[in-house]
Amino acid sequence: MLTGGGDCPGLNAVMRAVVRKGEAVHGDEMVGLRDGWRGAIDDMVVPLSVASFRGTLPRGGTILGSSRTNPYKVDGGAEAVKATLAANGIDALVAIGGEDTLGVAARLADEGLAVVGVPKTIDNDLSATELTFGFDTAVQVCVDAIDRLHTTAESHDRVMVVEVMGRHAGHIATWAGIAGGATMVLVPEQPFDIDEVCRTIQHRHEHGQRYASIVVVAEGALPVEGTLAVASGEVDAFGHPRLGGIGDLLAGAIEQRTGYEARAIVLGHVQRGGTPTAFDRVLATRFGIAAIDAVHDGAFGSMVALRAGDIVRVPLGDATSELKLVDPEIYAVAEVFFG
Ligand code: F6P
Repeated sequence: MLTGGGDCPGLNAVMRAVVRKGEAVHGDEMVGLRDGWRGAIDDMVVPLSVASFRGTLPRGGTILGSSRTNPYKVDGGAEAVKATLAANGIDALVAIGGEDTLGVAARLADEGLAVVGVPKTIDNDLSATELTFGFDTAVQVCVDAIDRLHTTAESHDRVMVVEVMGRHAGHIATWAGIAGGATMVLVPEQPFDIDEVCRTIQHRHEHGQRYASIVVVAEGALPVEGTLAVASGEVDAFGHPRLGGIGDLLAGAIEQRTGYEARAIVLGHVQRGGTPTAFDRVLATRFGIAAIDAVHDGAFGSMVALRAGDIVRVPLGDATSELKLVDPEIYAVAEVFFG
């Protein structure tokens, strides 16, 4: 097994389930590759057993470590992965990761490796599965923060801009906005008009005694082109820009245009850390069980996914073919409460 990309609460629960069913039912011998594809390239192999996962069900992160290393961006990387698997007598690989990790897994499966994927993304933006574990936890973290921010916003009559994760899709922002009672939710799917944002906040101010507002913004949200300058940053091994900063930019623009005091709060990696919710533990466990079953059915090149409440198998390629964006219907629910 390996865990790649940004970590998510529930990764340990997936692996615990793979090992438990693999060992107890199928008599498998398990190993882990440390730090995602980096461990597969550099032959960083650790033995895993049921005992390795004692006490890890409620533990966030991944006991194997993770990285955003892409073997196809490293000289001889894919060959090194194959050599590591062969040298350690690894018959099958369970790759737990998001678009990037599974993209590599799909390519390796096409090249003949026995790989099964488990979807993981805190952003919940993989099209092949209705939900990913960790998302529920992240939303809960955001809602807890928003609940707290309401009272301090009211005390000081401030606008609070809460920046949450969501690189290409605003699932966390939309769900947290609905559950937290946000004044506005800004998502990457829909460029925002700063004048409209300010008008909405002003309208709220004029119709209430105090204007305390909570604006939830996904880190990948962008203003309508040419309206606000956005700084561009560094990129990672998969070419993704390092995001963060839209909250500050927005708070500054709101304060300048409306004269209302505004503060930005970046929830950042707090959303990915700590213990998974019960829902995420169950989903992760179901994915883990389904992944080891797929290995024993020889269903290589597939990924486990949640569809209509059931765990199914889909081609690995489907996981990365399309991004799952926020459904306009759910965004419309949030919109009802804007202003
Ligand atoms: O891809 C998931 C994600 O959590 C994004 O929402 C965020 O932009 C990014 O990872 C942050 O990743 P890193 O751990 O590299 O800072």
